[in-house]
Formats: sequence, C-alpha cells, structure tokens
Amino acid sequence: MTTSILKTLLVPVFIVAMTLPAFSGDKSYESSLVCANCHEDNYRNWKGSLHALSYSNPIFQTAYRKAYTETKGSAKKYCLNCHAPTVSITGDYDVELPITTEGVTCDFCHTVAKIDLDKKDGPFHSEPGETKRSVLENAESPHHKTAYSKDFAGSKLCAGCHSFENRHGVKVGDTYNEWLRSPYANEGKECQNCHMKEIDGKTAIERGREKIHDHSLSHNLSTMTDSVTVKITHVEKTAKRIGVSLDITNEKIGHSVPTGTPARKLVLEVRTHNAKGAVIETLSKEYRKIVVNADGDEIQSDGDVFLYGVKITEDNRLKPKETRSEKFILSRKTGSVASVSAELFFQYEPVVTERTLMKIPLFSSQSIVK
Ligand code: HEC
Ligand code: HEC
Ligand code: HEC
Ligand code: HEC
Ligand code: HEC
Repeated sequence: MTTSILKTLLVPVFIVAMTLPAFSGDKSYESSLVCANCHEDNYRNWKGSLHALSYSNPIFQTAYRKAYTETKGSAKKYCLNCHAPTVSITGDYDVELPITTEGVTCDFCHTVAKIDLDKKDGPFHSEPGETKRSVLENAESPHHKTAYSKDFAGSKLCAGCHSFENRHGVKVGDTYNEWLRSPYANEGKECQNCHMKEIDGKTAIERGREKIHDHSLSHNLSTMTDSVTVKITHVEKTAKRIGVSLDITNEKIGHSVPTGTPARKLVLEVRTHNAKGAVIETLSKEYRKIVVNADGDEIQSDGDVFLYGVKITEDNRLKPKETRSEKFILSRKTGSVASVSAELFFQYEPVVTERTLMKIPLFSSQSIVK
C-alpha cells in the first residue's frame, strides 16, 4: 500500500491561499484556492460537492485502497482518471501533488477544450493554462483569458465520467446513456438544467454578474423528496387476503433511478395496519441493478464493481418518466386490517470501514380499507 496515499489523506488540502493577481504563464493546473480569491460563490458551492470530495472522501478512499492492493497498484491508472482527473495531464498517479487531492476540481473542467466521447480512455482534451472556458458571454478577467464554449451547457461535459464501462465490458454506471434515451434529451433538458440550476451569487467579486450556476450539483434531500412518487390505486379485501395495487413513477429524475454504481437501490415497503395503526404485515420490493463477479456472486461494494463486475443479471430500475404498476398480496390477520400504507426509500450501503446503511424516505402513501 503506498504511503503517498496515506500521506495525502493525513495532510489534506492545507494549501495556503496565494495572492495571484496575474497568470504566471505556467501550463499547469491551478488550485481551486486560487480561483476562490475571485470566484467566492462558485468556490463555496463546489467545496461542499461530491466533486470536491471525489478523491478525499472516505468511501472512495476505502474502495481505492482495496483496489490498489488487489491489483498491485495498477488500479491507480484507472480509478484516478475520474476521481482525480488532473492526473491525465500531470501523470501524478502516486498523488504527490496537492492538486490531485482536489478531485474533480475547477481547473480540470474549465480548461476542457474539446470532448470526444469515442475516445474511451480519455474523452476530455484538457488544456491547462491561461484560458478558462464556460458559458459567459463577454467575460473579462484580470487573472486569465476567457473563452465561450457551448460544451459547458451540455451533458457531453458530464458524460466522460458519468458513463462507464469496466474492462469486462459491463456498464457499471451509465447515467449519460440513460439520459440520452430519455424524453429529457429530446426536450434539450441537459444534466446542467437539473444539477446546475441558476442560483443567486456573484460570478466574480467586484465585476461579477448576479447569478451563478449551482456547483454543489443540487444533490440533496429536497431534490430527492417527491422525485419518485407512489400512489395506491386500488385496495381489495377478501376473507383471506388484501390486494394492494399501486403506481410508482419516476417523476423528476432525468435518468434511471437509482443511477450510478449498483450499491444504490430504491426500496418500496407496503404494510397493513390495524385500527390502532400498528403494523400487521410488511412486504417489500427493491428496484436496482445487480452485477455479479466471475463466480456469479452479487457484488455489494462500489469499488469492486469497477474491477470484478462481469455481468448485469437484473435491472428493474425505473426509467425517466416511467410509471410502473405493482400489486402486493398481503395475507396475515386480514380480518383486523383497517388501513394500508406504502413507503419508498432510497437506500445506499457504501463500504467505509464497515458497511453503513443509509435509508432516506422519499414518499409515503396511505389508504383506508373498508
Ligand atoms: C483575480 C480574479 C480572478 C481569479 C484569480 C480567477 N478568475 Fe475567473 N474570472 C474572473 C472575472 C472577473 C471573470 C469575469 C466574470 C464575469 O464576466 O461575470 C472571470 C471569468 C471566469 C470564467 C467564465 C469564462 C467564460 O468565458 O465563460 C471561468 C470559467 C473562470 N473565470 C474560471 C476561473 C478558474 C477555474 C479560476 C482558477 C483557476 C479563476 N477563474 C481564477 C476573475 C478571476
Ligand atoms: C472528471 C470526471 C467528472 C466530470 C467531468 C463530472 N463528474 Fe460528476 N462526479 C464524478 C465523480 C468521480 C463523482 C463521485 C464522487 C464520489 O462520491 O466519490 C461525481 C459525482 C457527481 C454527483 C453526485 C453523485 C452522488 O452520488 O451523490 C452528481 C449529481 C454529478 N457528479 C453530476 C455531474 C454533472 C451534472 C456533470 C457535468 C456538468 C459532472 N458530474 C461532471 C466525476 C465527474
Ligand atoms: C464538473 C465540472 C465543473 C467543475 C469541477 C467546476 N465547474 Fe464551473 N462551471 C461548469 C459548468 C458546466 C458551468 C456552466 C453551467 C451551465 O451553463 O449550466 C460552469 C460555470 C462557471 C462559471 C461561470 C459563472 C456561472 O456560475 O455560470 C464560473 C465563474 C465557474 N464555473 C467557476 C468555477 C470554479 C471557481 C470552480 C471551482 C471552485 C468550478 N467552476 C468548478 C463546470 C464545472
Ligand atoms: C430532469 C432532471 C434531471 C436531469 C436531466 C438529470 N438528472 Fe441527475 N438527478 C436528478 C434528480 C432529481 C436526482 C435525485 C436527487 C439527487 O440525488 O440529487 C438525480 C440524481 C443524480 C445522481 C445521483 C445518484 C444517486 O443515486 O446518488 C447523479 C450521479 C446524477 N443525477 C447525474 C446526472 C447526469 C450525469 C445527468 C446528465 C447525463 C443527469 N443527472 C441528468 C435529476 C436530473
Ligand atoms: C469513468 C469514470 C470512473 C472510473 C474509471 C471510476 N469511477 Fe468511481 N465513480 C465515478 C462516478 C461518476 C461516481 C459517482 C456517481 C455514480 O455512482 O455514478 C463514482 C462513485 C464511486 C464510489 C462511490 C463513492 C461515493 O462517495 O459514494 C466508489 C467507492 C468508487 N466510485 C470507487 C472507484 C474505484 C475504486 C475505481 C477504480 C477501480 C473507480 N471508482 C473508477 C466514476 C468513475
């Protein structure tokens, strides 16, 4: 196990902010702390995002150390291309430069000059240096040159990292293609329209405009709640059973739900209750993608899936705008059933040092049984 990984873990981003009024002419990546001098709001926003944490977060670090050890180090050429993408130019696969620990950092994205999705091992052509690119017209900066690039308004900028096939040809995460096949792609609703909405903030101190794009990726409880809904459509009661029909709909998510690595799932729980509201019986159903290894065993951890996933054996996730009708038959103590309820959770079990269960309620629905 490399000491450099441990070292960078123990000494995270303690880089002292530098005063850098003019660009040095150097063709290397600049730290996000340099940008923070002027782009305070974009910086604060990004700093709390999973992009800023894509290298340093403990879930990735745990998986990366395991992958690194098991592949005798060769995983570094693979994992870091997305989790610390500046390495593709700096070649710092042993993580000796502070910029590497900044993960998906400002200067990586804002120096992307060309995107070629057919180049599987390196779709981004990044040109670190003086010119910073994005979608502002007539931007002028005392620190760097600017260039307008339409690419920053489109999903292709995200695709290079958010669609990935591992070396066994398994589409471990396929968010971009899920989106591409959805009605949102036809409507021109790109990743940025949902994940980088316009919010209040200054594009730069002093001469900035009053709106910025949300660099925190809008990934939070408020965007998740109600994004998938459940409606009980019919309840039938006989002497021996209660039949509950319901519709589950992916209302607001622009790709399959859940998307990304397979450790994420939706769990739907349907219950019968007695007159006092106590639960009599619970049935549940999961929506997820199952990936197996060469022995046919289901892979539980995110990191392993990148290395060892050989086949997707099941995928019943909800596609964008899809409504699926389900029926549950409950049969315990039907005589005393007074109501039924349905509840939906987003569940994620990342491996940190031990498995950690995260269960986030998304929706619930109730119905009285007559
Ligand atoms: C000394 C201040 C300063 C520093 C340091 C600075 N910028 Fe800027 N930047 C500006 C100003 C001012 C603008 C113009 C804002 C406007 O027009 O609304 C700008 C514009 C931009 C734009 C918009 C370009 C376009 O054409 O759409 C990007 C992207 C950008 N900066 C990225 C960065 C990044 C990345 C860093 C750090 C590596 C950085 N900037 C460092 C002041 C700075
Ligand atoms: C250079 C690679 C790269 C690019 C480009 C990139 N991402 Fe990411 N993104 C990542 C990585 C790696 C993570 C996971 C970080 C982690 O959890 O360790 C991530 C995480 C996310 C998450 C949070 C996922 C979660 O599990 O909560 C969202 C949302 C997201 N990215 C959206 C976008 C959007 C939208 C774009 C395009 C504007 C984009 N990303 C561009 C690499 C990238
Ligand atoms: C995953 C790639 C990515 C990263 C990382 C990233 N940006 Fe951006 N940035 C974008 C995109 C995409 C836009 C344009 C969004 C749109 O048009 O919807 C943008 C827009 C901007 C703009 C123009 C003003 C605005 O908000 O629209 C500035 C300035 C900027 N970013 C600075 C930064 C700084 C500073 C950092 C780091 C603290 C950073 N960005 C990190 C992708 C990124
Ligand atoms: C129509 C809106 C919409 C579009 C378009 C969209 N997303 Fe999402 N996305 C969501 C919502 C809502 C969520 C769930 C809330 C959350 O996790 O932030 C989500 C979740 C995610 C997650 C986190 C998944 C998880 O389970 O933790 C990632 C990663 C992501 N989106 C990436 C992308 C990328 C990349 C694109 C473009 C190819 C994209 N999204 C397009 C709305 C959208
Ligand atoms: C092609 C880009 C890409 C490569 C290569 C890649 N990842 Fe990721 N990884 C992502 C993105 C994007 C996410 C977050 C969103 C998702 O699940 O789609 C992610 C999520 C993860 C997560 C979950 C992190 C969290 O915070 O929830 C772990 C763990 C992880 N990756 C480990 C690895 C390991 C270990 C490797 C190498 C064996 C690797 N990844 C290679 C793009 C990549």
